[in-house]
Amino acid sequence: MRMVDIIEKKRDGGVLTEAEIAFVISGYVKGTIPDYQVSAWLMAVYFQGMTDEEAAFLTKSMLHSGDVIDLSKIQGIKVDKHSTGGVGDKTTLILGPLVAACGAKLAKLSGRGLGHTGGTLDKLESIPGCRIDLSEAQFLRQVNEIGIAVAGQTAEIVPADKLLYALRDVTGSVPSIPLIASSIMSKKLASGADVICLDVKIGEGAFMKTIEDARRLSKLMVTIGASFGKKVVAFLTDMDQPLGLAVGNRLEVREAIETLSGHGPEDLETLCLEIGAAMIREAGLATADDEARSLVKEHLRNGKALAKFQEFIQAQGGKIDDLSRFVQAKEIVDFRSDVDGYVQRINALDIGLASMRLGGGRETKEDVIDPNVGIVLARKVGDSVRKGQILARIYADQPVTEEIFLSLQAAFVIVSDPVEKPAIIREIIR
Ligand code: URA
Repeated sequence: MRMVDIIEKKRDGGVLTEAEIAFVISGYVKGTIPDYQVSAWLMAVYFQGMTDEEAAFLTKSMLHSGDVIDLSKIQGIKVDKHSTGGVGDKTTLILGPLVAACGAKLAKLSGRGLGHTGGTLDKLESIPGCRIDLSEAQFLRQVNEIGIAVAGQTAEIVPADKLLYALRDVTGSVPSIPLIASSIMSKKLASGADVICLDVKIGEGAFMKTIEDARRLSKLMVTIGASFGKKVVAFLTDMDQPLGLAVGNRLEVREAIETLSGHGPEDLETLCLEIGAAMIREAGLATADDEARSLVKEHLRNGKALAKFQEFIQAQGGKIDDLSRFVQAKEIVDFRSDVDGYVQRINALDIGLASMRLGGGRETKEDVIDPNVGIVLARKVGDSVRKGQILARIYADQPVTEEIFLSLQAAFVIVSDPVEKPAIIREIIR
């Protein structure tokens, strides 16, 4: 087989065989096919697309490029979730304990944040003492004992994705639906769960800018998952504003605890309850959607999910003595509206960038995160505001620069006519 023939076939709209796709991926990982040929192939895929079957073959080749986690030592149905990346997305911290309290097993490998989006590992590490470097034995034991563990990846999972993603990033071929679907699904399948819930964000701050693209991506990921015998449910959710109110590591942990205590922002609580119910239903812990919804709601209201969160954090060495003193920013500065009106949009990208510039996120992989800083919204889309009222609160450890105010100014769009509150879940694809 020759790489140039495979490039030409895809360039001309041909359908690649399993063997041809496996040849590309294994050759690239081994270093026998150079970057320039894989770049040309990626661009051909970007323009010509892939059939569902080709995307499944690509996923399979990527999945087997590295280690596959064996969760067979965990009793019960293993569930997992993945978000395509958002601002203020602390759902794992809420959903994990919630579904574990209902009897599901969540064995989750999470990532760090980069750029305007946050990562679960950074949020966990903002809790004093909390460790994410669990050994495999410890990880499996913890899931068996308490139903939940969240750790950083130790095994070499899907090395093909690391190589391909870096190349896509510098060749303009990231926004290709089959490439995104195989990238996400290869990593999820390598993590070994039986049930996978996907949260596909739509909006300015997200990979998918339109509902049509989000739908195409979701359908493809559900189809790929099914071809591997997994139950996959995709939630298409709004990222035209940050999720919940808090953005920044400790601020988000605090909001997660408030949500588990029944005092969370409405959009965040709704999303966690709905994804939680889908996980419980697909895991066979409830036989109907309504029963699943009642079960997760009950575990949120009766304090069992909060107790599970505490057990989980304690198992990983973390401790929060006093929630009211958990966030220790040196300065809290209000950002106020200079007009009367209604909030039409809160650009999640601008809010995420503002939090990153305060030190709450990483511009490069090497940056060190300040756990205390971030932004807490005081208004969401659809809320009314009067001139002089607070739109957001800035938590900073340094004097707040003009750049941060400009980001917030750009983020909030205030109009004079009333605005309807958007639904957090726009569609569900099973
Ligand atoms: N997230 C991934 O993991 N891969 C992509 O290609 C895009 C988003």
